[in-house]
Amino acid sequence: MCGIIGYVGDKDVVQVILDGLARLEYRGYDSAGIAVEADGVLHVAKRAGKLANLREQLASTPLPSSHHGIGHTRWATHGQPTDANAHPHLSDDGRIALVHNGIIENHAALRADLEARGIVFASQTDSEVAAQLLGVELAACGDLTQAMRATCGQLAGAFTLVAIDAQDPDRVVAARRNSPLVVGVGQGENFVASDVAAFIDHTREAIELGQDQVVTITPSSIDVTDFDGHPATTRRYHVDWDASAAEKGGFDWFMRKEIFEQPRAIADTLLGRYDERGQLTLDEVRIGPEELRRADKIVIIACGTAFYAGMVAKYAIEHWTRVPCEVELASEFRYRDPIIDSRTLCVTISQSGETMDTLMAIRYAREQGARVIAICNTYGATIPRESDAVIYTHAGPEIGVASTKGFTTQVVACYLLGLFLAQVRGTKYGDEIRAVVAELEQLPEYVQQVLDRADDTYALARAMVDVQDFVFLGRHVGYPAALEGALKLKELAYLHAEGFAAGELKHGPIAIIDSTTPVFVVVPPQGRDQLHDKVVSNIQEVRARGAHTVVLVERGDESVAPYADTVIELPRVSTLLQPVVAVVPLQLFACELASALGNDVDQPRNLAKSVTVE
Ligand code: F6R
Repeated sequence: MCGIIGYVGDKDVVQVILDGLARLEYRGYDSAGIAVEADGVLHVAKRAGKLANLREQLASTPLPSSHHGIGHTRWATHGQPTDANAHPHLSDDGRIALVHNGIIENHAALRADLEARGIVFASQTDSEVAAQLLGVELAACGDLTQAMRATCGQLAGAFTLVAIDAQDPDRVVAARRNSPLVVGVGQGENFVASDVAAFIDHTREAIELGQDQVVTITPSSIDVTDFDGHPATTRRYHVDWDASAAEKGGFDWFMRKEIFEQPRAIADTLLGRYDERGQLTLDEVRIGPEELRRADKIVIIACGTAFYAGMVAKYAIEHWTRVPCEVELASEFRYRDPIIDSRTLCVTISQSGETMDTLMAIRYAREQGARVIAICNTYGATIPRESDAVIYTHAGPEIGVASTKGFTTQVVACYLLGLFLAQVRGTKYGDEIRAVVAELEQLPEYVQQVLDRADDTYALARAMVDVQDFVFLGRHVGYPAALEGALKLKELAYLHAEGFAAGELKHGPIAIIDSTTPVFVVVPPQGRDQLHDKVVSNIQEVRARGAHTVVLVERGDESVAPYADTVIELPRVSTLLQPVVAVVPLQLFACELASALGNDVDQPRNLAKSVTVE
C-alpha cells in the first residue's frame, strides 16, 4: 500500500504534492510526509496520522519554495505509525530523501551491514534501509540514477522508491519492483506516482513503468532504464477520466458517491460488447477460441469483496458453460498445491489490479501453464499487465476504501465472461445469450430504482445505531451477496456482522440469534421455486428465535410479508443477476450506519484501498 508522489517543475511543489497525496490517501493514512530541496539542503515535514495533521504542521511551519520534491502517505507494515517512522527518510549524511511503498524482505541483513559501517538509523522501518543504502551508493558514485540502480539490485521484496538528491535540484528518480509506479507527462514539468489520480489535475498523459525499471524525470525529460542501465521500452497512454471523477461531487463520502455512480458504472462496463455480426466480443480477451474450448476447469482467484464477486461468478459461469469452476482466496491459492495445468483457465478479479496476494497467485498459476484472464478496474495496473487477457470494468476511479461500484461491475464483467465462454464453447445459443445481455442492459435502471429508495434504508440504519451484532443470510447467489453485506458493515461500522448460507444456519450459527439480532435475508426471485421456498423457511426459523428480520425481496412477492419486520423491495430480475441489485441496499445501510456512528466512511480504521503486501 502507501501512496507516493514525486514532482519536478515550476509549480508550487508543496501544493502539488499535498494535492496528490490527498488523492492517494485511500492507499494508507497512518502518516504523511513531504521533502523538498532548497539551496542544496533537504527540508522534511512528516506527521503521524492523516494528511490533515501534516497540513496543519505546514500551515504553521511552511517549507521553503522549491522545484522538486517527494511525498508519501503511509499504511504501516514495519514499525508503528509514528512521526519518526513516517516517510520521507533521509540518508545519514542528509543528502538524499526517499519514500517507499512495499516491503523490503532483506531489510534486517542490510540494516545490520549498514550499521556495521557506522550508519545511524532514525526509524524502525524497512524503508529507511533503502534510504541509507541509496545514500551510501550515491556517496560512492555521485549520480542519483546510477545509485538508484545499484540500490535496487541489492533489495529483495516489493518496492516502489522515489528519491531526490540535495545536490541535484532538477531531478527526481524512481524505481519499481512488484509495486505500482506511473509517470505523469507534463509540459515543463513531470510527475511520478503510485496512481494517475495523484497528478490528474495537471496531466492526463501517462507512461506505465514495467517491472524492474528505473525512471529519471527532469522538467523536460523522462528517461527509463532497467536495473542494469539498459534503455527500456515503455508504453504511453491517455487517461480517459478527469479530475472531476475523483472528486466527491456534493456527496459527504466518496463511498456514497460511488454507490450512486453504479448505474453509470454498470452501463459503461457493458458498453461496446457486441461486434457488427451481433456476436458478444470481449476485445481484451486475446486468448484464442481453441484454447478457450480446451479449458477443462476455471479457477477464479480474488480477495475480499472481489472474492465474493467471484463466488457469484461461479454460479453463472458453471450454469452457462457447464465447465467446473472453483473460487479460491488468492492468499490461500498457491499454498495448497492446487491442481492446475495448461487446460486450466484462471480468472482473477481485482479492482485495483495491484493486490499482492492476487498477483502472486496469478504468477504461480502461469508458472503451472494456466492461462489467466484478469477482470480489473485500473488501466495498466500490474495484474492486467501480467495476465494473458483482461476485461476492464470501466467503473471509474474507486476512492472509498470499501468497494461498491467495484463489486457490481466485477459481477457484471464476470457475467459477460461467462456468456462469452458459453458462445465460444457453444453451450448457449445466440438468442439465449442475447436474452441475458438484454437483461444485463436493464441493470443500470434497476439499480437506479433501488437507489431512489435509499431514504428508507437510511432510516433503518439510523434506527439500528445501538445494535452490536448483525447476521446476513442468503442462498445460491444470495449467499455471496449476504457475505458482502456483512463485510461492508464490519469494515465501516466496526460491528460484529456475519454472513451465512441460509441453509447452514441450523447447523450451528442459529445459536447466536436472539431478539437483539437483526437478520438481513436476501430472498431469491420466485422463478426458482425450491430455492425461494427454502429461504422463506429460513426466515421463519430466525423469526421463531425472536430476530428482527429485514427481508430483501423482489417486488410483488407477498409470501414473506408475514415473517418480515422490514421489507426492502428489489426490482424483478432473474436469479443469477439478483446480487447486483440486492447488494445496493446493503451498501447504503453500512454507509449510513457508519456515518451515524461518526466513523470515517472513506478511510475506515486499519484498512487501505490497495493491499500491496501479502
Ligand atoms: C472491501 C474491499 C476489499 C477488496 C480486496 C481486494 O470493501 O474493498 O475486500 O475487495 O482488498 O481488492 P482488489 O479488488 O483491489 O484486488
